Amino acid sequence: MKLDNELTEPTIIHWHGLDISEDNDGHPRFAIEPGGSYVYTFEVDQRPGTYWYHPHPHQRTGPQVYMGLAGMFIVEDPEDAARGLPTGEHDLPLVLQDRIVARDGRLIYEPNAMTGFLGDRILINGNTRATIGVERGSYRLRMLNGSNARIYRLAWSDDAPITVIATDGGLLSVAIDKPYVMLAPGERIDVWVDFGRVATDEVWLETRAFDPGMSGGMMMGRGGMMGRQSPPELPNGAELRLCRFVISGTGPRLKRPAALDPLRRASDDEVVNLHQPRRFDISMRMMSWQLNGGPFEMTSVAPNEHVKLGTTEEWELANVSGMMSMAHPIHVHGSQFQVVARSGGGGPDADLIRNGLIDDGWKDTVLVLPGETVRIRKTFAKHPGLFLYHCHNLEHEDAGMMRNFRVEP
Ligand code: C2O
Ligand code: CU
Ligand code: CU
Repeated sequence: MKLDNELTEPTIIHWHGLDISEDNDGHPRFAIEPGGSYVYTFEVDQRPGTYWYHPHPHQRTGPQVYMGLAGMFIVEDPEDAARGLPTGEHDLPLVLQDRIVARDGRLIYEPNAMTGFLGDRILINGNTRATIGVERGSYRLRMLNGSNARIYRLAWSDDAPITVIATDGGLLSVAIDKPYVMLAPGERIDVWVDFGRVATDEVWLETRAFDPGMSGGMMMGRGGMMGRQSPPELPNGAELRLCRFVISGTGPRLKRPAALDPLRRASDDEVVNLHQPRRFDISMRMMSWQLNGGPFEMTSVAPNEHVKLGTTEEWELANVSGMMSMAHPIHVHGSQFQVVARSGGGGPDADLIRNGLIDDGWKDTVLVLPGETVRIRKTFAKHPGLFLYHCHNLEHEDAGMMRNFRVEP
């Protein structure tokens, strides 16, 4: 792949969720100047799944994604039909992003430094008031939260359970039914749905109300203390209809999939630091968000940011930001990880939100609630080099809520 930078500012592409070498990973140190180009060469050798790609230049990821530079990167194998999953035109991508659109159609980007950018409307695959025509049959919907800062609580308008078959890193071992599913920036879920069950001729995908914690809701949106208010943004946790499915004609109705794809996970005795997880704090100092006690520095690696190639580790992501606590979707580059445990905190709607989290599958982005500690397990099998972990609230990332870790050969 060749990237030609025809923008008026530096850029570089990152392939979110792909486990590839450091020179292909789109680290901001590889950003190219306007007029420059960058050639990527890598082999896609990992589980099939719904991945995505977007720019990653330092301090400009938020605006570049906002203005349109993001897309899905779907990895398939030939087995989906044999697995009994919908394929072809019954396999649909849904990219969820919020925006503020001016009267003349320009996109307005004036993010709030605390909450990140929140729009006044939601676009599905770039469309406002999205309507998708479907048959009375089964579909696979690949949903990406490509929003800069908005977290969704997804549900069907007819209150049918939402059937999740895959997360960030591909298929689950079994399908999971939930009344609603939380989807934070950077995360993906694949949803199985049978529109044949719907008695009427339309059903909506909605996001339902929740309180994301201090900075996300009450203070910024609902109280309006620090929010930018012209035109008014919708606070995180606002209730909204997202996408209308208009149902007509008949299509193939498949059985709800039972077994999907077994997850081969690292066992306890493969973990080199089982009882001493590496701990990274999510915190705030002098009104700026930090990871591991510091801001982003282009190539620096702290003593606790070195891991050994070929090992499996546990990391603890501890959201200790106290009074200014909010939920942060933490993303780690490289291989997919698994979520081992959550403890503590959670904020005002902790139980409601946790009920909608899917922690079972392979993940590359995990929502860490206010005051919460999330333990993950990750194997550094393939690629030595300098990689990133960061908050996927893109305004937080741009403000420096990002650090390097080095995989030592
Ligand atoms: Cu999707 Cu480092 O980002
Ligand atoms: Cu990534
Ligand atoms: Cu954040």
